[in-house]
Order: sequence, then structure tokens, then C-alpha cells
Amino acid sequence: MKEVNLTLDINEKPPILKWIVLALQHVFAMFGATILVPILVNSAAGQTVLTIPVALVTSGIGTLIYILCTKGKSPVYLGSSFAFITPLALGAVKAGIAGAMTGTMLVGIIYVVVAIIISICGKGWINKILPPIVIGPMIMIIGLSLAPTAISEIGISSDATFTDYKSIVVALFTFLVTAFVMLKGKGFLKIVPFLVGMASGYILAIILGMVDFTPVMEAAFFSIPDFIVPFISYTPSFGAALTIAPIAIVTIAEHIGDHTALSTIIGKDLLKDPGLNRTLLGDGIATFAAGFLGGPANTTYGENTSVVGMTKVASVWVIGLAAVIAILLGFLGKFTALVSTIPNAVLGGVSLLLYGFISVNGLKVLIENKIDFSKSRNIIIASSMLVLGLGGAVINIATVGISGMSLAAFTGVILNLILPKEDEESENEIEVDKNIEEKKEDDSLTAENINNENLIILEHPLIEHKLSILRDKNTGTKEFRELVGEIGMFLCYEAMKDATLEEVDIETPLKKIKAKRLNEDKYAFLPILRAGTGMLDGLIKVIPNAKIGHIGMYRDEETLKPVRYFFKVPSDIKSREVLVLDPMLATGGSGCDAIEQLKKEGVTKIKFLCLIAAPEGIEKMQKEHPDVKIYCAALDENLNDKGYIVPGLGDAGDRIFGTK
Ligand code: PRP
Ligand code: URA
Repeated sequence: MKEVNLTLDINEKPPILKWIVLALQHVFAMFGATILVPILVNSAAGQTVLTIPVALVTSGIGTLIYILCTKGKSPVYLGSSFAFITPLALGAVKAGIAGAMTGTMLVGIIYVVVAIIISICGKGWINKILPPIVIGPMIMIIGLSLAPTAISEIGISSDATFTDYKSIVVALFTFLVTAFVMLKGKGFLKIVPFLVGMASGYILAIILGMVDFTPVMEAAFFSIPDFIVPFISYTPSFGAALTIAPIAIVTIAEHIGDHTALSTIIGKDLLKDPGLNRTLLGDGIATFAAGFLGGPANTTYGENTSVVGMTKVASVWVIGLAAVIAILLGFLGKFTALVSTIPNAVLGGVSLLLYGFISVNGLKVLIENKIDFSKSRNIIIASSMLVLGLGGAVINIATVGISGMSLAAFTGVILNLILPKEDEESENEIEVDKNIEEKKEDDSLTAENINNENLIILEHPLIEHKLSILRDKNTGTKEFRELVGEIGMFLCYEAMKDATLEEVDIETPLKKIKAKRLNEDKYAFLPILRAGTGMLDGLIKVIPNAKIGHIGMYRDEETLKPVRYFFKVPSDIKSREVLVLDPMLATGGSGCDAIEQLKKEGVTKIKFLCLIAAPEGIEKMQKEHPDVKIYCAALDENLNDKGYIVPGLGDAGDRIFGTK
């Protein structure tokens, strides 16, 4: 994974003042969402299930537990999870606080069990059970099932007896401010649109006389939050808990996604170190502790990941202090009383966006993973899940009521496992690059019968000679690096065969002539980091004035999908012909993604130069970018299970840089 220049690394402690300021940024980032969850759960359940002080305290305690479980190696903040708003409300409607809290603790236990299984069996199985076709509709259900709550908060539901125009104005204003900040906010503001929206709506509500400050007057400055503890405050209720627990299916996927994003930002693979088993264990114990004290289930906060990305401060000390501040805020009675005076209309305004926002994220999962809805299998899974999840289904088995949302989750998982895959299915499972498996089953795809259109293979004894040294596992780093550069240079010669030259007047020692020159300003190179930079040496020897862009990506070892972490190209890239450099074209994921980014920048002339290509990569490239010529020094047999080219040369990046 690419090294990122962090202002403060994970274990670095900032000086005290800076430490406090940085921690407060995290508190602001998490605050809006963390307090919104209890307010919205209570509103959806029609009763007080959660309180803001307990939510703040359990978020802080949860974060500290997570830090301990991950041995201080992962700068993640845990706050109240949106995914549990509907399940907690349903659990509470069924069995009051006992139902909601037992369910939350059960979710924590599920995380811990999954963490233990991952420690023993690895994490590949999760992706098999939870592919995007199950996760996407589940997220949509979570958001959409809350839609009626937003409408009744605004006061415009069909059963409202009169229309309060003040409420509508406040809700609309809150909505518009939130949307505006989302669209136009810069820097830190962009991370906290809901907080800004709520604050603005609240001020308008005060001006319109809709806020009653009596609870603030009556509240003590300091007060102990109303913790709700099992066997003291209630007897656990497992029937209703089963309404809540299946949502762990979605939140485990969310957990993995958040950690992947943060890993890219800080340049350290957190799923490896401290490991998914530890991060999930931390999240699980934190969620159990939250349920135990009467708080909402926790989740890893994207808002705080954005703060890390923005400040480049990954210090766990900062996250830890933010957690302590959250705990202290929970004990400030006046403050939490003030927050509780936020009128429903303000909440309706943010919910209008928030619930839709959650559902749209479900759509995003489907789109980003290119789920093909012309396939009956995908239609069947998504349709049945949506109808069960949103139609108000309940199945009562003895004292246990299985809600529509849980039914949808079970149905999705089971249908995905049992429904036969259609022949032409191209469903993107997160773990397995199906391209490889399909190609393996498809005997017809070999180096012999690959489509040669736009494919130029250097056939030259010298190239073959150099490649044989390169492929040899006993070749050392120095020689390997030199050879990659040299072959890169030969590829460049070939790729420049069709270059147009410009006429210039020159004078030889003997006479004046019209000669032809290359306008080097028309070219740019784009090495794909890391390994592509190995070829760059050779290319800049022959076109020294070409400009150079960089695209950073690494292949996720499990999914084989490229994970992009950097993109910087010359400002005039559009007007240049770009040679994309990468020694290996394996599945083709990295090459295709790099070219897609260039096309988004408006580049129209692109060539792809690689040392060794696999038929699978060529096919993908020809399919996705038929306009791009591929230049390679050798076309190999195929890919192995791990996505390595066979016979290949091993891991090009590691061999160039001597990292293994
Ligand atoms: C290697 C290689 C390509 C990519 C090819 O990079 O250099 O970029 O894999 O695989 P694909 O065609 O299946 O996408 P890696 O992820 O190992 O990163 P590195 O260059 O930093 O070693
Ligand atoms: N990346 C490499 O470095 N080598 C391969 O064989 C495949 C991808």
C-alpha cells in the first residue's frame, strides 16, 4: 500500500493545545449524527427509547474500547449508527426498551462471533454471503422504511389533522441549508452538512417562536445520564431482539468499507494490521457496551475518516481525546437539555435528505458494483427483498416476531446462495474477481486465439533474451530494475512508430536541410504506481521532455480490484497523447481504471504499454477501451487463482523495489 505523508502518524501525540483543537474537530464531525440517532429513534418509535447524553457517553466509551481492542493502531471514531434507527424503533414498538437494548447487545455479540470466525477461517466467506446484490437493497430498505417518519415530523402525513405552515417553512429551510452545504460546502463544512442544517433550522425555529426553553432552565448544569442496564432497569427480551440483530449483516459490510476507505487515506492496510478480526471485535464490544448502558449501536464514522483525510492527522491520541470529550458532554445537563429542544420540523428537514441519502447509498452499491438488472437472478433477489422489507411484513413464531427488514436480509442471503447463476452472469462479488473464474472455465480464451486487433507484441530476439532474465526468480533487484527500464524503452520505440513529425530547418556542418523532429510537448507518460515507475526511466531517456502524471493504485489482494489512492496529471493533459505504463496487465482492472480516469480528464489519445500481458487483461481492455492500443513485450498463458500472470515474473512492484 502506498506510503502517505501524514502530519501526525497513528501513535504520535500532538502538543496539548493542538491536541484539543484537533479532537474538537472530530467531536463536531461526529456530533450531528450521534445525537440525531436517539432523537429519530424516539420519534419513529413514538416513545423514549434512547437519550442524547447516553448516546454521547456510549459513543465515547465505545471508541475507547475500539482503540484498546485494536491496540491503538486504527484511528477510527465510533458513533451512533443510522442503520439501526428503524430496527431499534421496531424493537421498541414490540418490546419497549428491553427489546431495543437486547437487540443492540445481540448485534455486538454477532460482531464478536464473526471476528472470532475471521481469526480462524479468514474473511473471504463474508463476501460470498454478503455480495453487493444483497447489501445494496438492504441499505435501500433501511433508508426507505424511515420515509414516513420524516413526513410525519414535518407534519404533512396523511393522518395530520391540520397543516402547520411554520413547521413546513422550518423543515424546508433546514433541508435547503443542509443540501446547500452538501453541494457547496468547502473543507470542514462539507463534512458536517447535517449539523449546519440543524443549527440553521433551529435558529429559524427560535425566531418563529417554536422552541420552548423550559427544559434548559430546569436542567442541572451537570447530571448523570439515565443509563439503562439489563436486569436492573429491564429484563432482556430476545423475541424483539431478533428484529434488530439481522442488520448486523449490513453493518459488517459497512465496517469493512469504512476501514478500506480509511486504509487508503492513511496508507496503512487496517484490515491486515490490526486486522479485520480486531477492528470488528472492537466495534462488537463497543456496540455491546452501548446496548448494556442504554445507548444506540455504534458504527465506524465516515465523517471522522474525512477529518483524518482532511487534516492528515491519523493520531489515535486525537481520536481518544475526542472520545473523552464526548463522554464529558454527556454529563453536561444544560447542554443536552438544549439539544433536546430541537423541534420536530427541524428533524423532518434533515430526515427528508438523510433517509433518502441512506437509500441512495444502497443504489450506489449496486451501481458501483455494476449489478446487471437485465439478469433475472438479480431482479429476483432485489425485488423480493424490497417488497418484504418495505411492505410491513411480520412473521410471528411463538414469542418471536421476525420483521420485514430481517426477512428481507435472510431472504437476500439465502436466495443469493441457492439461486443458480445465469451463464452470462457478471455479478461482481466483492471477494472473487469473477472475470478470472469465468475465463478459466472458458477454454477458448488463450494467448493463441486472443483478438489481435490493437494488440502489438514486440517480437524480437533481444526482447526475448531480456525477458528470460527478467522472469528468472534468481535475478536480483538491480538487474531487474534495469531490465524493466530497458524493455520500457523498446516499447516506447514501438509505440512511437506512428508519431507525426514536424519539419524544421537545420544546418549540418555541410549544408542547410529540412529535417523532421518530434514535438515532445505533445506527449505525457502516466506510470501506474508503483511498478509503472520502473518503466519510466527507459521512456524518459527517449522522450525527455514528455510530461509525467501519476496514478496510484494497488490491487486488493482479495478482490483483485484496483484501489485508487492518487491521481495527479499535467494541467494540459487533454491536449497530449498519453502512454500509460504498467509492467503487468493481469485482470486488466488497474489499466482500465487508469484509462477511464484519463478519459474523464478529456484525454483522447491513449496507448497502454506493458511488459507482460495475460489474455484476460487484454480481453477486458479491448472490451472497455477498444480505442486504446496495447503494446506488450510478451503475451502469457493465463492468470492463476491469485490473479498472477503465469508464467509471468511474479510481483513486479516487489521485484523492482525489493520489497519482498
Ligand atoms: C500490480 C501491477 C499492476 C497490477 C496489475 O500492481 O503492477 O498495477 O498489479 O493487475 P491487474 O491487471 O489485475 O489490475 P500491485 O497492485 O501489485 O501494486 P504495486 O505496483 O504497488 O506493487
Ligand atoms: N501484478 C503483478 O505484479 N504480477 C502479476 O502477475 C499480476 C499482477
